[in-house]
Amino acid sequence: MDSEMVGESKSTKRATLEDLNGVPFHSEMVNGWGPIWNFKARSDDLLICTYPKAGTTWIQEIVDMIQHGGDLQKCARAPIYERIPFIEIYLPDFKISGVEKANAMASPRTLKSHLPVQLLPPSFWEQKSKIIYVARNPKDNVVSYFHFHLMNKTKPEPGNWEEFLETFMAGKVSCGSWFDHVRGWWKAKDRHPVLYLFYEDVKENPGREIRKVAEFLDIQLPESVLNQIVLHTKFERMKVNPMTNYTTLPSSLLDHSISPFMRKGTVGNWKEHFTVAQSERMDDLCAQLLKGSGLSFRTEL
Ligand code: A3P
Repeated sequence: MDSEMVGESKSTKRATLEDLNGVPFHSEMVNGWGPIWNFKARSDDLLICTYPKAGTTWIQEIVDMIQHGGDLQKCARAPIYERIPFIEIYLPDFKISGVEKANAMASPRTLKSHLPVQLLPPSFWEQKSKIIYVARNPKDNVVSYFHFHLMNKTKPEPGNWEEFLETFMAGKVSCGSWFDHVRGWWKAKDRHPVLYLFYEDVKENPGREIRKVAEFLDIQLPESVLNQIVLHTKFERMKVNPMTNYTTLPSSLLDHSISPFMRKGTVGNWKEHFTVAQSERMDDLCAQLLKGSGLSFRTEL
């Protein structure tokens, strides 16, 4: 997104969702799907892929820091959405096209996507581009997604918490079923270079997970650089960093007075939202829909 292109006073129309091969997405994106599906990935692209609110921005900043040897100035060159284009974003009213931004970028590129595995542009598989996937437990993920719907004026109206949770569990939110998303990408790692990370692991031991990322990217990380990255990508630091906290976008798009983009950054905030019955239902759904996948999630540390 380019904040200069976005009219400050423009009032934003909330999206309606439309079906794209069985997965709901913003109708504008569905209408502009052709160029996204035909996106030309390059073999030296790195794609960061997540279900929305799984810690995308966090891993983006970690990756950018690894790629720049922990140089704070280089990582402050532009907001995160400029450094790492979001390929499927398409907001014609705001002149925002992730495909155009990525196409204009020199290699090697790092890109972002929330697409489920079956909707990833085929060129990524053909080019064998490396992919980092981050998954977050569904309880914290849905809480974060709820607050994001409240503050992100391009999202559909979420309704109240109870209603949003129902919509999420039914897979009727933008990007579709969380269960299908995490499962589909988990399977993809058996046939493609995918590093599959968990938000909870990064929170528990950021140094260990940052090392994994560096190894995956074939980048040597001296101890001092690793420590610098751990420090700089802490939640408290990223929350006040305008290059990572999304405050550079106008409030007509993201209204941080409703809920900041960098909201809590914890594992277990779901306990302040879920009733016991809701929590049990989510546990049952996980048992049912993740069965046989080998995937399991920690909801507390
Ligand atoms: P919460 O809403 O639970 O606070 P995404 O970048 O995919 O949109 O995800 C946003 C979520 O990741 C938010 O979760 C945000 O606070 C959290 N997050 C961002 N940076 C983080 C960091 N450095 N450490 C922990 N959580 C972080």
